[in-house]
Amino acid sequence: MVLVGLMGAGKSSVGRLLAHALNEPFLDTDALIEHDTGSAVSEIFSSRGEAAFRALELEALRKELAVSTPSVIATGGGVVSTPEGRALLVAHTPVVFLDVSAAVAASRVGDARSRPLIAEDPLGRLHELSAERRAHYLEVATHVIEVDQRTPSQVVGALLALLGVAA
Ligand code: S3P
Repeated sequence: MVLVGLMGAGKSSVGRLLAHALNEPFLDTDALIEHDTGSAVSEIFSSRGEAAFRALELEALRKELAVSTPSVIATGGGVVSTPEGRALLVAHTPVVFLDVSAAVAASRVGDARSRPLIAEDPLGRLHELSAERRAHYLEVATHVIEVDQRTPSQVVGALLALLGVAA
C-alpha cells in the first residue's frame, strides 16, 4: 500500500502505525534517498536542485514498489508532481491519499527549515502546493482519507475499515 499527500499529512506516522497493524515492513522514499545518497533531502535540494531530487525519488519509489512482499510505503509529498511519478502510482494499488488542509499541514510540519519547498513561508507555500497537487493526488489514489480531524491512529482505524481489513 502506498501513502500520498502533502507534507504534514502524516504519511510517515500513519505509515509506521499501519505497517505495525498489518505486520508489514514500512518503507519511506525520503529515508531511502537519504540512505542511498548519504545526504539529507534538504542538502540534495540545495546542492543538486529539485529536478535531481525528483529523479532520485522516482528511483526510490521504483525500488520500493519492486519489493515482492506487501509493504506500506510513505512517499514524499511531491512524488505526484512528475508524470513519471504519477504513472508509477497509477499502476499500483492501493494508493491512499491522506487529505489534509494547508492550515492543518502547516501546524503539523514542525521545523519547516528541513523542508526546502516551504521553508520561507510554510502556510502560504502549502496553500500553493495543495492547489497545484490536489488533483494529482486524487488522480493516483484508490482511497481518500480526510485527516484534519483525526489523530494518526484514528486515520489507521478509518483506513483499515475502508479497506475492509481487520488488524
Ligand atoms: C516534498 C516533500 C518532502 C520531501 C521534500 C519535498 C514535496 O517529503 O520529499 O522535502 O515536494 O512536497 P514529506 O512529504 O514526507 O515531508
